[in-house]
This record gives sequence, structure tokens and C-alpha cells, in this order.
Amino acid sequence: MQYSEKVMDHFMNPRNSGVIENPDGYGKVGSPSCGDVMEIFLKIEDDIIKDVKFRTFGCASAIATSSISTEMILEKNVSEALELTNKAVAEALDGLPPVKMHCSVLAEEAIKAAIEDYMSKK
Ligand code: FES
Repeated sequence: MQYSEKVMDHFMNPRNSGVIENPDGYGKVGSPSCGDVMEIFLKIEDDIIKDVKFRTFGCASAIATSSISTEMILEKNVSEALELTNKAVAEALDGLPPVKMHCSVLAEEAIKAAIEDYMSKK
């Protein structure tokens, strides 16, 4: 399987990996097809995402998509972050192999779940 340089970079040097204590938003999703799990932690002030961390037990693509998607939503308004699609995440990584597209869906779903958690608590 051929991965882009960007996928390899984000897999080897993940950005924003870790957890946030007492997050304003928290999302956890699993992929039924492979069993991988992704968690997203958000710190939000005035609807702006001020900090984001991820914890992913998964394949290289799942880690790379978690990493780049945290960069894509940092400092964004929550409504903008809700519009992030798995396609945009995959494109930002210069593409994913077709059998790995479901990994990027995890990132989209985990972010949406974390923002929905934040909104439900407001
Ligand atoms: Fe399941 Fe990548 S193989 S998230």
C-alpha cells in the first residue's frame, strides 16, 4: 500500500496527540469494520476551539487523519469545524488509499461527536 509523504509525516510525528482534562467537548467513535477507536478532546472559549487533542488506537491512516484534522479545526469556530468532511481530511493528506478512506470517516465522526457533546452541555 502506498501512503503519501504527508500521511507518513503525520503518522510518525502526530500533532496534538494526548488528552485534555475536563474537556468542554469529548467524542469517542469506533469503526465497526476494523475495531479502531478515536477520541477527541476539545477546549472551547466563545465557540472557538482553543485546544484539541486526540487519542487513537488504530492504524497509520487513523493516526494521520486524527493528527491533521486537529490542525484543521484548531482556532476555528465550532460551526466551521462541524463542516469538516472526511474528504477534506483525506485531501489535506494528499489522498488515502481507497481501502483506508473509512479511517478518515472516524476523524470526521469523532470531531462531530465532541462538538455535539459541547453543544449539549451549553
Ligand atoms: Fe480502521 Fe484505519 S483500518 S481506522
